[in-house]
Amino acid sequence: MPIIPLDDQNPLVLGLPVDDNATRFSNYFHVLREVIHWSNGWLPLEPTFHAKYVLGEHIHDDARGQVKVRRRIYELRANEDWPGAPSDELAAQLDRLATASTPAEHAQVVYGQLKPALVRALEVHAASIDPITDEVSLLVVNQLLDRQRRHIAEAAERWSISPEDAFTADLGALDIRKRETRDLKILPRLEEPRRDAGIEITPDGDPYLSEELYVNGDENHVPIDREEQQHFFHGLMDAELCAAELMARNSHEHPEMPWDFHADMARQTWDELRHARVHEVLMATELGCRWGDFPIGFSYFQSIYAYDLVGRLLLFNGTSEQKAMWRHSHRRQVLLDLGQANVAKVFDYLLADEVPHVHNGVRWGTHLLGGEPAAYREKMKELREGLDRTGQPVSPPTPAG
Ligand SMILES: [Fe+2]
Ligand SMILES: [Fe+2]
Repeated sequence: MPIIPLDDQNPLVLGLPVDDNATRFSNYFHVLREVIHWSNGWLPLEPTFHAKYVLGEHIHDDARGQVKVRRRIYELRANEDWPGAPSDELAAQLDRLATASTPAEHAQVVYGQLKPALVRALEVHAASIDPITDEVSLLVVNQLLDRQRRHIAEAAERWSISPEDAFTADLGALDIRKRETRDLKILPRLEEPRRDAGIEITPDGDPYLSEELYVNGDENHVPIDREEQQHFFHGLMDAELCAAELMARNSHEHPEMPWDFHADMARQTWDELRHARVHEVLMATELGCRWGDFPIGFSYFQSIYAYDLVGRLLLFNGTSEQKAMWRHSHRRQVLLDLGQANVAKVFDYLLADEVPHVHNGVRWGTHLLGGEPAAYREKMKELREGLDRTGQPVSPPTPAG
């Protein structure tokens, strides 16, 4: 561990007034909020799994960055003036996000325009902070800088992004509209998610996958031989992608929800994409098959997406993921007993991640039901009456519009 130099030879530099510092962080807040919002909207429509993964990891990274930015604004100026709303000049740049019509156009605005402008502003900020009186801000700014530079480099590999100089102003120095808020637009309702080229999508998905794989209790069947594990993990990889896409759309379609909700959704979106990656690697390295070898279907996704936010949270997180915990634990034990330690380990980690996912359903479902645990239980009882034995809604609502 290096020793922190605490000599008193370096003079204090003037640095930034606290108000200007809070304004700079407020501008970063606005950029991150809208990048996260629109990336969540586009994530299900990005067809390539690896690009979808990068988008989801960046959403999570930006959500974590935004938590630190919000915290620093609160520490510097804990009143209702900050973060306010973006100036007209910044709002005009952020409005470009709403004009994208494909995931690639979205990526061009985010990684070709907004993130490079954010990096420039952070560089100006880092150079003007007094590292002694404002060490805390320097830490946050340097972390953001590292992350944004990495995102731009990774995006350049995934999409053919050409850096633009469309927005050269120091966005950190722009005024904010104190005490105001800015509403966000929402993409049209999702028809269905996109998958990599060549993936066969059918109404019923992979016919090999029987109901017994997805029921709890004595009737549950654990896939133990190679062929059934190939189909099972292929189907599970698609289910993870659908889970990521549901969480991303929950966040995108509900900008009115508290910021902690978006942070929770961002984490779960990334978790589900990480799970998909685990299955992709497991299939290629242990099971002798690949993503795309079998058909997939969106009937479960559609049956959950048809509900409003509270219905999705209670049925997906609070029911489907809660019931999956038992099956993951059961599958793990059966496979351990058979000596399949690596496949069993996958279920051990899925099970661990499922705990906070179920909690997301309880926490935000209860929030939407007036903070009343009794109302949550009542609504859950009503919704669960409409499920088949695998947990799929028998007759989901017809979505409006
Ligand atoms: Fe998962
Ligand atoms: Fe999950």
